[in-house]
Amino acid sequence: MSAAPFHGRTVIVTGAGSGIGHATATRLHAEGARVIAADISRERLRLLEEEISDGVITVDGDLAEQLTVDRVLAAAEGRVDGLANIAGIMDGFEPTAEIRDDTWERVLSVNLTAMMRLTRAVLPLMVSAGRGAIVNVGSEAGQRGSAAGTPYTVSKHAVNGFTLSTAFFYTPKGVRCNAVAPGPVATSIEAPFRSDWAQQRIGPLLQSTLPPVAQPETIAAAICWLLGDESANVSGAVLPVDGGWAAV
Ligand SMILES: NC(=O)c1ccc[n+]([C@@H]2O[C@H](COP(=O)([O-])OP(=O)(O)OC[C@H]3O[C@@H](n4cnc5c(N)ncnc54)[C@H](O)[C@@H]3O)[C@@H](O)[C@H]2O)c1
Repeated sequence: MSAAPFHGRTVIVTGAGSGIGHATATRLHAEGARVIAADISRERLRLLEEEISDGVITVDGDLAEQLTVDRVLAAAEGRVDGLANIAGIMDGFEPTAEIRDDTWERVLSVNLTAMMRLTRAVLPLMVSAGRGAIVNVGSEAGQRGSAAGTPYTVSKHAVNGFTLSTAFFYTPKGVRCNAVAPGPVATSIEAPFRSDWAQQRIGPLLQSTLPPVAQPETIAAAICWLLGDESANVSGAVLPVDGGWAAV
């Protein structure tokens, strides 16, 4: 296998400033890709630029806003071979009766609507090229009801549906769409409990079933496999990358 399987390819990575997105961007760069790295944090992108000065184009801004999506597309200059929708936020473990409107709206905007807008924007380029690969980051919270609060759980179940529907419509046009569903990963994501009831209900369950915390590079490896040619016949999959948690 080539040491630079992404040579000559342009791949957009969201949430590239930290955690799984950062690990994915740096791996893709090492494997030859031209990386469009998007994140809301200008400072995190600056640090990424220091690490990999050549071959990365950074776009800072809130991906929940269409304007940022437009800027990411402009940076790609008409060519997108891969899209990794990774940016996401947690929900304070708010259970249904305690959901704050701002939490609901923000979590769905960032975890789902931003993914839809960016995917909607790249698809015409991929379809006209007759090829492309999209990987969405879901979660083990998209496989069960007991791994997060309600808004995050809803958003990650929706990521699965978005992945399947996109794969259904566009695989015949050469565009594959898959998702990974990580378990716990050592990143900067903020996950405080804002609900006593959620802590009582979820806390002991997490303690008894949670697998060991994975490193972001482990998830990035699965994302890059799904972005690359070695997974050529895989589309519409939601791949647990969770240390076996889905099997519990
Ligand atoms: N860490 C875990 O345990 C875990 C488990 C399952 C799934 N996930 C998912 O993995 C993905 C990556 O999370 P992570 O754990 O690496 O977190 P992280 O916080 O380390 O990285 C996420 C990055 O996304 C950026 N971001 C957040 N909101 C944004 C916005 N509106 N516009 C642009 N950028 C934005 C952040 O600035 C950050 O750099 C998320 O979708 C998350 O839901 C994480």
